[in-house]
Amino acid sequence: MNSPLWSNVVTQLTPYVPGEQPAGVGLVKLNTNENPYGPSPKVVAAIASALDDSLRLYPDPTASKLRETIATYYQLTPEQVFVGNGSDEVLAFVFQGLLAHGRPILFPDISYSFYPVYCQLYGIEFQTMALDEHLNIQVADYISPQLPAIGGIIFPNPNAPTGRVLPLDAIEEIIKAHPNTVVVIDEAYIDFGGETAIPLIARYSNVLITQSLSKSRALAGLRVGLALGHPLLIEALVRIKDSFNSYPLDRLALAGATAAFEDQDYFLTTCAKIIRERALLTQALSERGFNVLPSGANFLFVTHKHQSGLGLYQGLRAQNVIVRHFNKPRINEYLRITIGTPKENAALLAALDVLLAA
Ligand SMILES: Cc1ncc(COP(=O)(O)O)c(C=O)c1O
Repeated sequence: MNSPLWSNVVTQLTPYVPGEQPAGVGLVKLNTNENPYGPSPKVVAAIASALDDSLRLYPDPTASKLRETIATYYQLTPEQVFVGNGSDEVLAFVFQGLLAHGRPILFPDISYSFYPVYCQLYGIEFQTMALDEHLNIQVADYISPQLPAIGGIIFPNPNAPTGRVLPLDAIEEIIKAHPNTVVVIDEAYIDFGGETAIPLIARYSNVLITQSLSKSRALAGLRVGLALGHPLLIEALVRIKDSFNSYPLDRLALAGATAAFEDQDYFLTTCAKIIRERALLTQALSERGFNVLPSGANFLFVTHKHQSGLGLYQGLRAQNVIVRHFNKPRINEYLRITIGTPKENAALLAALDVLLAA
């Protein structure tokens, strides 16, 4: 129901709907691409040691220690690093501060479903670009001379929910073709397989990369995301932040996120485990009649040759296994399945075997 007290923007908004976060225990939760392993024990210890009387004080508004840690990790300068309350917040600032130019922006027709919501929120026109029949981004479309004057480009790499990876040389072609337009690469899943575009920052002032600590660093509950790029692009995000909320990251988030970047061994080990499980699950699903798209992310995007996507989703849900089904054109026969622990993946396969035998 609407209210006459609402602004026009709110009345017209269709908000993003996040994946289900069920309260019950005993569910196999493979629906929101969280990390099946906990964060590094060093992250938990850092948060615990930040839990003291200093919580009465505001956190550092510039997040300088975290930004320096990330800059060192990626061989950048702190002026090339922005941090925010999850990459969703960082992306919201990017849309408002770098993509709203009164010209349409481009993103794939099958992609992160928050992008059109930000466009609606900030009154940004957009044009979606069709993925090819294998759900790959068609680079030629993004560099075509027939394109109208655009306000920017954004796509995830690996793409979500497909998991498909775009090679770095293809990304560079797109960036090179639009020197006066920001090209945003949303690398929420990059640590599971794709090649990061961070090296391109040194050569192109129009590339902005966003990343998340929610997936590969197992900190979805802490809400930390980041953007990397030319200092002038970062400055735009700082200006938006400082006109909105001086302290998007609290003291615990700053401590935990810094420790996450300091514990590279744990990060590499858990990513490797997930990548190994992805290969095993791909094989097991293929043997059961699924078509599994090659994925560079911590999830698989699959269709079955005989069963409907919705039927499988509901059949799994009835057995307490939650995966993601999108009731959208082109992808409504697909399931997106987050890679779990070996035990969770075995439970998924057992539940599928029940459905496929019926
Ligand atoms: C492509 C993509 N970008 C960004 C995000 C947001 O991540 P977060 O706000 O948890 O950092 C997600 C979350 O699922 C995603 O799939």
